[in-house]
Amino acid sequence: MITIPKGTKDVLPGESYRWQYLEEKARAVSKRYCLKEVRTPTFEHTELFNRGVGDTTDIVNKEMYTFLDKGDRSITLKPEGTAGVARMFIENGLTGGVLPAKLYYITPAFRYERPQAGRLREFHQFGVEFFGSPSPDADAEVIMLANDFLKDVGIDEVELNINSIGCKHCRPKYNEALRDYYRPHLGEVCPTCRERFEKNPLRLLDCKEETCHEIAKNAPVITDYLCEECERHFKGVRELLDACGISYKINPNIVRGLDYYSKTVFEFVSTAIGSQGTVCGGGRYDTLIENLGGSPTPAVGFAAGLERLILLMQNTGVSFGEEPVPEVYLAGMDELSRKKAFAVAKTLRENGIVADTDHMNRSIKAQFKYAGKIGAKFVATIGSSELEGGFMNVKNMATSESVKVPFDEAVTYFKKGEK
Ligand code: HAM
Repeated sequence: MITIPKGTKDVLPGESYRWQYLEEKARAVSKRYCLKEVRTPTFEHTELFNRGVGDTTDIVNKEMYTFLDKGDRSITLKPEGTAGVARMFIENGLTGGVLPAKLYYITPAFRYERPQAGRLREFHQFGVEFFGSPSPDADAEVIMLANDFLKDVGIDEVELNINSIGCKHCRPKYNEALRDYYRPHLGEVCPTCRERFEKNPLRLLDCKEETCHEIAKNAPVITDYLCEECERHFKGVRELLDACGISYKINPNIVRGLDYYSKTVFEFVSTAIGSQGTVCGGGRYDTLIENLGGSPTPAVGFAAGLERLILLMQNTGVSFGEEPVPEVYLAGMDELSRKKAFAVAKTLRENGIVADTDHMNRSIKAQFKYAGKIGAKFVATIGSSELEGGFMNVKNMATSESVKVPFDEAVTYFKKGEK
């Protein structure tokens, strides 16, 4: 038997309503905040991610699904959504259009990681990107949107962590302070951290290795090194969050796994789903558009992992809403009444009523059994006497009560029942 590739998941028929629930909440909150949806390709030129996500990141160095296509081009399955949306924004001349541009997407993403609970090789993100505003208002609104989304979904077991990682003016000073702190520990840290020490010291703070994690605890904190502008900006974000009653923790160890961030970074973290507890992460990335060849355009955004959200909802007993069930199942007793059942089902569907009927040539008893399995609220039986009399026998499956409903009143009857 051919099996599913490691780190990927099927969404089974009994589970898809959960995805739809999350996606509907994502679309609804995006609409309330006046965002427009965008869709970008599943694969891009590899160069986009090398330059966009950054060549010192684990994502680019170890985790990308990269291959040569038949035209010998290096292609990569998107490991995240931001770089593709930024490319789209530049390529279509939108940096010169109406700003700010507030965009959202729901996309698969691919990372060759070691699969575990909440970590897959193909996963899905609901992402948001705001282009054009340098103001802390944009950061605060993006965070508020994420907060509202989680609230709408019914999740409250998360903590919002925020930090500022400075900009090209103050980060170098902090990097030097970090290097000074780590230099005497270089013999103790893991080989990856020794590389990070050279290439991207900020990432030293994010290492999951026990020893490195311990060492990171006493490292200097970035918030002590922010320049005046970054300090003012971070204060602005916090003041707006305070004004909106959004609680958060300032966590100087939030540095994020992608290179494009500056100033604000944030994560919504849960302790209920194991070590992969970050359900949503994002921040400001003011230089990405410029680095990708566009005119300088500040930006801020986030992405939430849908699989992690589903896991968190399952683990904490959050409801996914009701699984939709058919309003009525039409059961025909003989050849002629089956045809009538088929036709009534069509009329009901045309009028927006969820209706089903048999196409397995089942006995009436078996049809009832099937209707029970799919959770139909009513079963409408049609036999020769019903055909003659112009009505059907409608059984309420919850109460077992039966009533006769004329064919020409079927739509009105079930429309009423749906309320
Ligand atoms: P990220 O933190 O790499 O950021 O991913 C965002 C979210 O995607 C994570 O918080 C997590 O919920 C989910 N996620 C990441 N990797 C996996 C995985 N292997 N399996 C399951 N879920 C995963 C970004 O991707 C940025 N593009 C976010 C952003 C948008 N920043 C600014 N704009």
